[in-house]
Amino acid sequence: MLTLEGANVVVLGGSSGMGLATAALARRLGASVTIVGRDPARLAAGRASLGDDVRAVQADVANRDELRAAFDGLDRIDHVALLAGEQPASKVSDTQHEELVRALDVRVWAAYSACALALPKMNPEGSFTLCSGMSAHRPRAGRSAGGVATGAAEALTRGLAVELGPIRVNAICPGAIDTPLLDRVFGDTKVQSMRAFTDRLPVPRLGTVDEIADAICFLMRNTFITGVTLHVDGGALLV
Ligand SMILES: NC(=O)c1ccc[n+]([C@@H]2O[C@H](COP(=O)([O-])OP(=O)(O)OC[C@H]3O[C@@H](n4cnc5c(N)ncnc54)[C@H](OP(=O)(O)O)[C@@H]3O)[C@@H](O)[C@H]2O)c1
Repeated sequence: MLTLEGANVVVLGGSSGMGLATAALARRLGASVTIVGRDPARLAAGRASLGDDVRAVQADVANRDELRAAFDGLDRIDHVALLAGEQPASKVSDTQHEELVRALDVRVWAAYSACALALPKMNPEGSFTLCSGMSAHRPRAGRSAGGVATGAAEALTRGLAVELGPIRVNAICPGAIDTPLLDRVFGDTKVQSMRAFTDRLPVPRLGTVDEIADAICFLMRNTFITGVTLHVDGGALLV
């Protein structure tokens, strides 16, 4: 299936940033798209920017009962992209059990749930794409809980690729990408705050959501790639 024409694509965390861009590109490539997010206003705005044909489902991906609605009503599912994720910031000694569990629930348990809910209707040539992050590879003080969750997402990707074959399971590992998430963290100082990091990169800038969407739709369409983590980071791991 080298095209997304006629495919049903479900994007968890599809109302903003990389997920929204992935939904938009999948739709342009001919897919019927479902987006999932928690905030109703963000979800409505996302759907409005995509088009009336897009299904929008309000759910917390950590909650399997809520997530069920994203897959109900579809008689076949071709591709699921999981972009929802949280990056808690606290030192190991200060981290509460709930914070760690929450980070794992949103990024990892959500993937277990998506598999359980989608598999009965999954196209055997279809795919799941999980989301990792630099924290899995470049530990930073105060960011271990997020790193545990992204690292687990990569391990789960490989496990699922073996367990679910011929359905393909891959992960995307974005570098620093210009999304509303960075706006929330840095506000107006975003570009300046990131400059010390981005200037060192072989491709010395923030990535764009379209570059991530392109990589995710590539992983959906390529029918022989499974179990990989695709780094889309301007070369961040090299420096
Ligand atoms: N931006 C970066 O530089 C960067 C780098 C590496 C990895 N990442 C990861 O990439 C993913 C996408 O990030 P982004 O930058 O595109 O962020 P974003 O613009 O904030 O988008 C995140 C999307 O996920 C949804 N979401 C978050 N938690 C959710 C939950 N529990 N249940 C359902 N939906 C949820 C959000 O909607 P609601 O909040 O309304 O639910 C939104 O649609 C995240 O996993 C993030 O950790 C980001």
